[in-house]
Amino acid sequence: MPWTVELPEGASSRDESFVFVRDGHRELIHLHDYARIYTVPGLYERVVQDLLQCRSPTVAVDGTITAAAALGRAMATLRVLDLGAGVGLVGELLRAAGVSAVVGLDNLAEARDACLRDRPGVYEDYLVADLERAAPAVIERLTEGQFEVLTCVGALGGGHIPPGALIRALNTLTGEAMLVMTVHERWLDLDSVDPFSSAFRAMTAGGYLEVLHDSSFTHRLDMSGDPIMFRLLIARRAAPVPVDLI
Ligand SMILES: C[S@@+](CC[C@H](N)C(=O)[O-])C[C@H]1O[C@@H](n2cnc3c(N)ncnc32)[C@H](O)[C@@H]1O
Repeated sequence: MPWTVELPEGASSRDESFVFVRDGHRELIHLHDYARIYTVPGLYERVVQDLLQCRSPTVAVDGTITAAAALGRAMATLRVLDLGAGVGLVGELLRAAGVSAVVGLDNLAEARDACLRDRPGVYEDYLVADLERAAPAVIERLTEGQFEVLTCVGALGGGHIPPGALIRALNTLTGEAMLVMTVHERWLDLDSVDPFSSAFRAMTAGGYLEVLHDSSFTHRLDMSGDPIMFRLLIARRAAPVPVDLI
């Protein structure tokens, strides 16, 4: 490998940066600096999947299998929109699980570039958009996609995908659709003030989302080696969500 990665020694749970070493040059990179990480082939996978043992994509794909069964649909004919698709790990696992039609969406062009570079052909299409500000043509493209499942994996809360974008994505789904998401358990605490938390509470209390499944799992390790606990939520989108709900 022409580069290596060092996790901080004696790190605390609050540490969220690693050192990227290439050609004798050392660069401190924050875990959420996706635009930088995605430019290096394999770097996201090395840090997040290998060293920090992230399980969210695998758990979410198992959740999609459950969602397909609840819809009475075969995986082979399911249409899935993967919101916050990153380098395409979820798409790759969905394809391996038999889904033929998956479209990815991320707000970073670097994510699309990395996915097309490292996992060409996984997604039927990969859109770059911020759905809160997306042109009507993007919303139209998603609606025409007739997606029955929306996956959103490790991409909600904590400054990731804003609730307005999640709601717009939910509203493009077709028929009796499902949301499969993995979310830090802290964003599901009743006293959480994260924008995702209040939006999720409003969507469930208002009857727009009906939670069918809710389980805890270790999303990944933090830099000190402690587990970060997430929840897998599978919810039926019972009705279109008013965009002014939040
Ligand atoms: C932790 S990564 C997860 C990537 C992928 N879901 C996975 O599990 O491998 C979070 C992703 O969410 C994307 N993201 C953040 N804000 C977004 C937004 N407003 N719209 C779409 N994607 C967004 C980031 O660019 C990043 O690729």
